[in-house]
Amino acid sequence: MAFMKKYLLPILGIFLAYYYYSAKEEFRPEMLRGKRVIVTGASKGIGREMAYHLARMGAHVVVTARSEEALKKVVSHCLELGASSAHYVAGTMENMTFAEQFVAKAGKLMGGLDMLILNHITSSNNPMTVFINDIDQVRKNMEVNFLSYVVLSGAAMPMLKQSNGSIVVVSSIAGKTANPLVAAYSASKFALDGFFSSIRVEYAVTNVNVSITLCILGLIETETAMTGTAGIYNAEASPKEECALEIIKGGALRQKEVYYDSSVLTLFLLGNPGRKILEFLSLRNYNMEIFIKN
Ligand SMILES: NC(=O)c1ccc[n+]([C@@H]2O[C@H](COP(=O)([O-])OP(=O)(O)OC[C@H]3O[C@@H](n4cnc5c(N)ncnc54)[C@H](OP(=O)(O)O)[C@@H]3O)[C@@H](O)[C@H]2O)c1
Ligand SMILES: *[C@@H]1O[C@H](CO)[C@@H](O)[C@H](O)[C@H]1NC(C)=O
Ligand SMILES: *[C@@H]1O[C@H](CO)[C@@H](O)[C@H](O)[C@H]1NC(C)=O
Ligand SMILES: *[C@@H]1O[C@H](CO)[C@@H](O)[C@H](O)[C@H]1NC(C)=O
Repeated sequence: MAFMKKYLLPILGIFLAYYYYSAKEEFRPEMLRGKRVIVTGASKGIGREMAYHLARMGAHVVVTARSEEALKKVVSHCLELGASSAHYVAGTMENMTFAEQFVAKAGKLMGGLDMLILNHITSSNNPMTVFINDIDQVRKNMEVNFLSYVVLSGAAMPMLKQSNGSIVVVSSIAGKTANPLVAAYSASKFALDGFFSSIRVEYAVTNVNVSITLCILGLIETETAMTGTAGIYNAEASPKEECALEIIKGGALRQKEVYYDSSVLTLFLLGNPGRKILEFLSLRNYNMEIFIKN
């Protein structure tokens, strides 16, 4: 109890104060003007809305997904909206060679990279299904929703280090909490948290100035989500346009996490100060100096 009073409570207080009240810089659309941004899974849904917002803000965009026809339309609408430039590269994120070469191509098209927005998910399964013995589905979810994100980030890192850029990872409440009928999807989203949150700490202590923003979304009104959950899951869905804007804002402000859900309780309940305190305290046990370059 003495220990609690002496150390734990003050630390907790400082943490909470820092987390909730740290002076937040205000977002301005001009922050994206001229920035070079990749958006994956941008042929429809939230990804397409992000591309349109970025275009209105005057960014350079390269979009990708599998459907070439849809991407063509997204690119031409981006140009109408005022994008500094807009291109697409079509392909599947099941193919890690494509993922790697895609980043190189996008970098060439824009002359570098400031923000990598990772948003695609496999659409091979209806998300609301039970598939504990369907290893193919689990593997596909892990490869497309997780492994390709790692490949894309790895390929983009040299450019992002050069620009002090940002990685934005789109996840879900199912990547923070347990829910029925989404086991494989949920596993892939939890994996993103484990991987990218670990990398974020690593970068912080080794002075790599590339921000990582993990976005925790509730139900969003996209066609995929609405048809996938119809008759099975009833919750209020939030608009995809606003969702897309909140993701871009969080990335531009270099926030660690973005919460976007119809319920304000979500941020409050998932803020998880316990995890933050443990992560902070565990750093003392590492000899990270040996990894600091220059
Ligand atoms: N909507 C929600 O309720 C909700 C909730 C929480 C989190 N999220 C997250 O938000 C993100 C976007 O969701 P959304 O609802 O906007 O999805 P969506 O409308 O289904 O869009 C998914 C995108 O991924 C692309 N894609 C699918 N398979 C692919 C593959 N094998 N390789 C490359 N691209 C592929 C699709 O295009 P092609 O088919 O042309 O390839 C499409 O552009 C996802 O990360 C999702 O987990 C959504
Ligand atoms: C994977 O992508 C690469 C690069 O786009 C391509 O050359 C290769 O043929 C693809 N592999 C498969 C199996 O489609
Ligand atoms: C990146 O940030 C460093 C400081 O961390 C600064 O010296 C450098 O000029 C910045 N580079 C760019 C391209 O903004
Ligand atoms: C990291 O880069 C951002 C964006 O260029 C810049 O605003 C910030 O000051 C940099 N941080 C450090 C610690 O250099």
